[in-house]
Amino acid sequence: MNQFLDVAIATAREAGAILRAEFDRPKTISYKGEVDIVTESDRRSEKLIVARLREHFPDHGIVAEEGGGGAADARCCWYVDPLDGTTNFAHGYPCFAVSIGLLEDDRPAVGVVFNPVSNELFSAARGKGAYLNDNRINVSAVQKLAHSLVATGFPTHLRKRSANIDYYWEFTLRSHGVRRDGSAALDLCSVACGRFDAFWEFNLHSWDTAAGMLIVQEAGGMVTDLAGQPYRPGRPDMLASNGLIHGEMQEVAASITERAAKHE
Ligand code: IPD
Ligand code: CA
Ligand code: CA
Repeated sequence: MNQFLDVAIATAREAGAILRAEFDRPKTISYKGEVDIVTESDRRSEKLIVARLREHFPDHGIVAEEGGGGAADARCCWYVDPLDGTTNFAHGYPCFAVSIGLLEDDRPAVGVVFNPVSNELFSAARGKGAYLNDNRINVSAVQKLAHSLVATGFPTHLRKRSANIDYYWEFTLRSHGVRRDGSAALDLCSVACGRFDAFWEFNLHSWDTAAGMLIVQEAGGMVTDLAGQPYRPGRPDMLASNGLIHGEMQEVAASITERAAKHE
């Protein structure tokens, strides 16, 4: 029995039920930035999650996107995205999730991502494998980028020209396609269960990736930055894959960076 995992699962389900109920109702939207929106549901979900984690683990740190957490310097720290995919949620596109990850001494220990519309709960505990609901999951066996389906995302808080558009273009030409689904946590889970063969993105936050990265690793995948260095939640760029096409993805990424540098 893993108490951390059990509490994270129960809490993600409870917060997901709030999001699911509110998904069908008119949304109250406010703006954090030019197009960076937040809804009442983000806040309600976060309030519930933070209260549950505090109740069970008063000594743990909590970093939560909407600011409801506290001290991040504890040995055990939870990273909470109460609603990953807010833009989708606000537009009625059913692709969003609750993401709760625990880092112990800076190492991912537990990760839970719950999509309350599809009722898919992805979970992992370090060393114990990754699951979709009650079934063990694994990354895909696709060996070549040319045969792969990959995914990326574009941050809502940065509106200037994104270098990622060059990556998007290049990977589109070299793969079966690039999906841009609007929830990094679910994108990572799609890599973990073999729907996507790889995912990369720039400027993600720790709460976007803390849970998903462990789920990918426990499903047999690889998570680094785009240069192949170890990834830690909050780093500026991330590459997650089935491991088999990781090297090829890195090579393409390096060639794009090189080309961009020549044109600067
Ligand atoms: C966003 C989603 C999106 C990603 C953005 C994130 P939010 O999170 O994960 O897929 O491309 O970078 O900020 O704002 O919906 O919690
Ligand atoms: Ca997010
Ligand atoms: Ca969010």
